[in-house]
Amino acid sequence: MAEWNNGAGRTAEPPRPSRPDGTVPGHIAIIMDGNGRWATRRGLPRTAGHKAGAETFRRIATYCKNIGVKYLTVYAFSTENWKRSEMEVAAIMALLKRYLLEAVETMERDHIRLHFFGDMTPISPELRALARETDEITEHLSKDDFQANVCLNYGGRNEILRAVWQFAEDCAKGIRDPWDMDEEEFSFYLDSRGIPDPELIIRPGGEQRLSNFLLWQSAYSELYFTDTLWPDFDEAELDRAIASYQKRDRRFGGVKK
Ligand code: FPP
Repeated sequence: MAEWNNGAGRTAEPPRPSRPDGTVPGHIAIIMDGNGRWATRRGLPRTAGHKAGAETFRRIATYCKNIGVKYLTVYAFSTENWKRSEMEVAAIMALLKRYLLEAVETMERDHIRLHFFGDMTPISPELRALARETDEITEHLSKDDFQANVCLNYGGRNEILRAVWQFAEDCAKGIRDPWDMDEEEFSFYLDSRGIPDPELIIRPGGEQRLSNFLLWQSAYSELYFTDTLWPDFDEAELDRAIASYQKRDRRFGGVKK
């Protein structure tokens, strides 16, 4: 049985989910939106919103782990976010660097696996090296441990294109046969290979769209939107999202028996 760090030492079992009641989704994905507005409303620079947003991520990841969520995937930087000012992009990258530097120190202790989705090619060599380091640590951790996936220079369409390119290359090499391609095999080429699709996708910040997030994986995800801005999103808000998910009638295109 996996060991679980409860802060006061190790216990043989992870804590039972106490809140919320019922089935907790195994994989929750979040579009962390509203950081800029949160800061502007306080007369602060947009970068202050991202800083607060990074703290919210930390807090929500800890809560997810404690209530028994297995995977948390967050949209940290999209393929379109390069259009923002150089200063804002640099601030987001600096926050990610700080988070990764801390993570390499604490992942093993806290049993947190960390993985990246997205095309890392244009990311700074320093950040890429840190991401590689976290991947290596993740490899040593148990598959039962909680995993956070950070989407960095990520776009759903780009992810599908990269999968197609890789598949075409494998076909050209004779490793794969194009006529054998099915949904399961295609999933193997995505950044999310081996990770179940998210049951629940949450978007704070008031907008009701996916914005190029997990386009393949969201086919049957339940969507939850809230006006709360990401830096204000807390455990109670996540409980509300999960309670809403638990009331959904998930039929996957079938009919209720
Ligand atoms: C969207 O809000 C948020 C982003 C584009 C950046 C998210 C990045 C972080 C929270 C920091 C790093 C993350 C980790 C995982 C440590 P917005 O700026 O579009 O908000 P707005 O719609 O109010 O302008």
